[in-house]
Amino acid sequence: MGGRSPPAGWRRWVRTRLLLLLLVVLALAATAAVEGRFVVEKNSLRVTSPAALRGVYECAIGNFGMPQYGGTMHGVVVYPKANTKACKPFADFGLSFNPKAGGLPVFLLVDRGDCYFTTKGWNAQTAGAAAVLVADDRAEPLITMDTPESSGKEHLENITVPSALVSKRFGDDLKGALENGDMVNVLLDWRESLPHPDERVEYEFWTNSNDECGAKCDMQMSFVRDFRGVAQVLEQRGYTQFAPHYITWYCPEAFVLSAQCRSQCVNHGRYCAPDPEQDFTTGYDGKDVVVQNLIQICLFKVANESRKPWLWWDYVHDFAIRCPMKEKKYTTDCAHGVIKSLGMDIDKITQCVGDPDADEDNPVLKAEQDAQIGHGARGDVTILPTFVVNNRQYRGKLDKRAVLRAICSGFEETTEPDICLTQDIQTNQCLENNGGCWLDKNTNFTACKDTFRGRVCECPVVNGVKFVGDGYTHCEASGVGRCQINNGGCWKETRNGKSVSACSNEQAKGCKCPQGFKGDGIHGCEDVDECKERLFCQCKDCSCENTWGSYECGCGGSNMLYMREHDTCISKVATSSLGWGFMWVIFFGLGFAGVGAYAVYKYRLRSYMDSEIRAIMAQYMPLENQETSSHQRHVEHADI
Ligand SMILES: *[C@@H]1O[C@H](CO)[C@@H](O)[C@H](O)[C@H]1NC(C)=O
Ligand SMILES: *[C@@H]1O[C@H](CO)[C@@H](O)[C@H](O)[C@H]1NC(C)=O
Ligand SMILES: *[C@@H]1O[C@H](CO)[C@@H](O)[C@H](O)[C@H]1NC(C)=O
Repeated sequence: MGGRSPPAGWRRWVRTRLLLLLLVVLALAATAAVEGRFVVEKNSLRVTSPAALRGVYECAIGNFGMPQYGGTMHGVVVYPKANTKACKPFADFGLSFNPKAGGLPVFLLVDRGDCYFTTKGWNAQTAGAAAVLVADDRAEPLITMDTPESSGKEHLENITVPSALVSKRFGDDLKGALENGDMVNVLLDWRESLPHPDERVEYEFWTNSNDECGAKCDMQMSFVRDFRGVAQVLEQRGYTQFAPHYITWYCPEAFVLSAQCRSQCVNHGRYCAPDPEQDFTTGYDGKDVVVQNLIQICLFKVANESRKPWLWWDYVHDFAIRCPMKEKKYTTDCAHGVIKSLGMDIDKITQCVGDPDADEDNPVLKAEQDAQIGHGARGDVTILPTFVVNNRQYRGKLDKRAVLRAICSGFEETTEPDICLTQDIQTNQCLENNGGCWLDKNTNFTACKDTFRGRVCECPVVNGVKFVGDGYTHCEASGVGRCQINNGGCWKETRNGKSVSACSNEQAKGCKCPQGFKGDGIHGCEDVDECKERLFCQCKDCSCENTWGSYECGCGGSNMLYMREHDTCISKVATSSLGWGFMWVIFFGLGFAGVGAYAVYKYRLRSYMDSEIRAIMAQYMPLENQETSSHQRHVEHADI
């Protein structure tokens, strides 16, 4: 390079860069001085074994990967033998952390330092780890692991495992336990990471209209594209109340008239944004970005006033496609074209935007600057883009599923909308071993339900028939119609056109073999051999033949008839002509006897007679199925 001075252009560039940096630092310092506060969002980590470490520990949710908001994850901690900082691919060391069949997922514990957090996350993920725990290398309060600004973010898009930073002390304890040969079981828990007080979730999206900032801008655009539909449905159904926000800085008083502040700021240095290309001499200026941001806020305000806040998503989506900086269309005119095509009132929006050159406050941008400062549990917003759910900053990848999951976890339990329980964000825990829930192998009825909170084992409702049980080992159809569903889980068989079932709708639950069968009614019912077991048809000369579920009985002699009800044979002749006369004789005979007996035995005996008469009549009447009365008769007999 010799003594040659750098080219003039380069010098100017350095100068502008330095000035820019100074401005930003000054402005940030000024903002921060008010109440500078960055809140580290946390989840909890519960150690279930070894006993010495048992307890709940805090860890900081990383700003990449996919935290399982509202859910939990079980795993075993592994500390790699080599590459403990996970800065190189584990394959180089022949290490892999894919869980063995039936094994718990591996939470890889790695050390902080030497490379980006995202590199560690990516290396752990590609080696098969289900989550990555980064042990801090110094004793300090927990910090948020952020994504690198420029280089080292190649894998950012593809990191899906959740990440968490743990304190140095806890990291050392974990390593100690592993060295002792202990198995360290942990549960990562994000259920309380976001407040979930009621049936509506309020969320904010802190964004920027700038579309030329490399990977971060691309990621933001693809997020808007993916998330738009979901956001609109949630908003239209009243499940959420959404508001977009934009960060601006102000120019320190002394620089208001400088070329830099004039190109970056509107309203005389009050509201500024960094130059998109970080070069004041070419392309668009920070000022242009502020104006576009302002149009987007105003559009939201106007849309919200007409009760259609979701139009903001359409606008932002369309604007990025129709008015990109690359094609030199990042202009107010182009913006107006998009507004018009959405059928919105341009005048109202223009009025809200006001005059960017006026030396006065813009109430809309002023409100945005005030909102940047943290309040309540929310810290200052300093990272763009940022999601704020129920006034807490979301940490993790800007990804449709992950963000939706976070929003879903912001609803009071059981009030979350259907969209939270659909395929989109289900955990797929039911795919493996049916999530440990009840499953009927014959019908594939299952108690496993995937929800964003993780799987639940809950007996199903099939075609309106409710199953009851513990959901894990046992579910059973219950109530009306239960026999229509898989025959209520009971035995059923058809032979020679005759169907027999152990399920009866009269019974609220359970199975019972019908008459003529024995067994538990679930696994099977077995025919009772009435002949062999000498239950029926044991009269002299009778021929007994067992059938399925019943028996046939033949009386010896052709003019004899078998009376199934009473398991006796009677003469056909007697029944046809003599029968009635015979009956009357008995009737009167007993009647007289009854009158005589009245004096002696009074009511008690009379009732006996009555029943006896009924019984005798029954023998000669064409009776079908009078089992109960005949049964009763026997009982009364026994009584006397
Ligand atoms: C991320 O994954 C996609 C799809 O699997 C792949 O096409 C892309 O190259 C990956 N990007 C990086 C940086 O690994
Ligand atoms: C949007 O409108 C609703 C009422 O229609 C209001 O409660 C809410 O505060 C508005 N949101 C913003 C960010 O102004
Ligand atoms: C139940 O699922 C298994 C595996 O998916 C399948 O092979 C079987 O045919 C299913 N049975 C019924 C009754 O649908």
